Amino acid sequence: MSDTLSIKDNRTGKEYEVPISDGTIPASALRKIKVDAEDFGLMAYDPGLKNTASCRSKITLIDGDKGILRYRGYPIEQLAEQSTFVEVAYLLLHGELPNKPQLDKWTHEITVHTYVHQFLIKGMEGFKWDAHAMGKMTSMLATLSTFYNDSKKVRDPEVRREHIIKIIAKMPTLAAWCFRHALGRPYIYPDNSLSYVGNFLNMLFRMSEPKYEPNPVLERALDVLFILHADHEQNCSATAARNVGSAETDPYCSLAAANAALYGPLHGGANEAVLRMLREIGDVKNVGSFIEDCKSGGRRLMGFGHRVYKNYDPRARIIKGLAHEVFQVTGKNPLLDIALELEKIALDDEYFVSRKLYPNVDFYSGLIYQSMGFPVEFFPVLFAIPRACGWLAQWQEMLEDPEQKIARPRQVYVGADLRDYKPLDAR
Ligand code: ACO
Repeated sequence: MSDTLSIKDNRTGKEYEVPISDGTIPASALRKIKVDAEDFGLMAYDPGLKNTASCRSKITLIDGDKGILRYRGYPIEQLAEQSTFVEVAYLLLHGELPNKPQLDKWTHEITVHTYVHQFLIKGMEGFKWDAHAMGKMTSMLATLSTFYNDSKKVRDPEVRREHIIKIIAKMPTLAAWCFRHALGRPYIYPDNSLSYVGNFLNMLFRMSEPKYEPNPVLERALDVLFILHADHEQNCSATAARNVGSAETDPYCSLAAANAALYGPLHGGANEAVLRMLREIGDVKNVGSFIEDCKSGGRRLMGFGHRVYKNYDPRARIIKGLAHEVFQVTGKNPLLDIALELEKIALDDEYFVSRKLYPNVDFYSGLIYQSMGFPVEFFPVLFAIPRACGWLAQWQEMLEDPEQKIARPRQVYVGADLRDYKPLDAR
């Protein structure tokens, strides 16, 4: 048995042998398959890149059929139970869990870079009071690039490392300032004596108290949510980070592009859409008719379905458990009953079962965020903070991979044939 694929082109009768490695064939091998010398050669047509591997990656493994998610080989369930977000960030970026001195150094480096330049406040003040938090975050990330001209040296590993640390450190500060801007509250500066998440809660919620003390249950819950959202291999936003970064764009602008991708309701905006949907349903008694609407194609059951998971999203399972812990502190979110009923009916319904539509990460996370006092517009930002670490790991891996080139897909041109320009009065 040889690791090759034999292809017969029935247009010409010619036969070709294409190598198979890691369950893939090199798309460029198809180019040899031509009708004649003039022919450009065969291409793969794959809108949405549903069946195209565009990189080799060692970061995250998803087995969508089995509902498995691992970072660098470690099951997400073990990391959520035993690790912290800062440690997971190290793991994703370095490939191994840190030992004690490595973790101490990493934590220290991230902690001392939490402050941002005062001029950013001027940028923030330029936004309208009701500007969406994700639009502000995207702009702030791109703005940071203008403060760090040396970040353009993306081929220098030391420069890369410096800016990776800066971005992970500053994401909570930018996010918290976007939050306070919308409320018209003064910005709170980082308290570097607190944990990564504790400091974030401080910058979000501190009022007149001299020292903010985060609630330990909520602090841990948000840390676990950050672990669960830290990476998810080649999704829309990671692909945006890789594609933009492949032009050797600096990491701030590459991440601004990734953040813009995450903003969409079919991606990281889904948790926001779930909450709006639950509010609209309003009562458990309306769940049945809402499900029927979804089945007739009138709308989508937000927080259900996934391009990769054709089983229960393992993150959704952990978040569902976490929700109960959070509600013991915050009180039960009244929308929980609607969510549970939606899940129960959908998991039992032929339409959802046959299409393998299960709850995804966004189905329950919004309920926790809302109970912790976040407005829905802010949910995607809570996703973006930890995911920045995954984007950076993907971006770094892309730059270190000698097989990678600037992203430049092909197209099948289906437009007009050659025609002559007509002056305006002749049209
Ligand atoms: N509600 C109702 N029907 C659905 C849903 C849904 N949430 N998702 C998919 N379907 C149906 C489609 O209508 C389609 O049915 P058909 O075969 O009869 O035409 C079938 O299931 C396959 O759907 P596709 O859109 O082809 O699946 P795709 O892989 O392209 O989409 C996606 C995945 C975008 C996540 C989709 O399931 C969806 O829109 N879900 C709701 C939004 C959401 O929760 N997004 C968050 C994803 S997780 C994340 O990004 C962090």
